[in-house]
Amino acid sequence: MSDSAHLYRLLYVSENRIEGDVAHVTREIEGILATSRRNNDALGLTGALIFNCGFFAQVLEGPRETVERIFEVIRHDPRHNKIQVMSAAEVKDREFPNWTMAYIGRSPSWEKALGWIKDDTHFAPDERCDRLFKIVMEMAYDAELSPDRTFAAPGKS
Ligand SMILES: Cc1cc2nc3c(=O)[nH]c(=O)nc-3n(C[C@H](O)[C@H](O)[C@H](O)COP(=O)(O)O)c2cc1C
Repeated sequence: MSDSAHLYRLLYVSENRIEGDVAHVTREIEGILATSRRNNDALGLTGALIFNCGFFAQVLEGPRETVERIFEVIRHDPRHNKIQVMSAAEVKDREFPNWTMAYIGRSPSWEKALGWIKDDTHFAPDERCDRLFKIVMEMAYDAELSPDRTFAAPGKS
């Protein structure tokens, strides 16, 4: 995506409020992704959505005013709460230039990669989520570099 305006990147985490069985949660996530990809494409936004461990993490990047506008909509979405902005800053380049919304969710390879964290009782739950989050971000960046990797579920719309 080409950029004329100043680029802005916002990263937040939130707590999942979607309840129900796996099929229902999956349908809801698919709905969020379909809407995101349609809207973000039209708005010139890119990013990644991560869903695991009962929380979401999302990276949104694009013109500042557009990012802030869509974030206002997203933050009022009842499907999540306890939204915490981790970082928000002007950036030089996009990290996800080819992804209207990359999705990193649960998958067997993920479970394998993250298994040690779930089993590691050394860390408090919050700390574990922090560590998980860092790994997730690395995976998101990895997925961007190699979109054919198995844990990178359908990326580009
Ligand atoms: C965790 C999460 C992330 C979302 N990310 C986006 C997004 O990147 N872009 C978007 O347009 N909507 C996103 N949504 C959905 C919005 O909250 C809202 O439902 C949607 O923008 C409404 O679009 P519509 O008016 O086209 O139906 C997200 C929702 C959740 C719960």
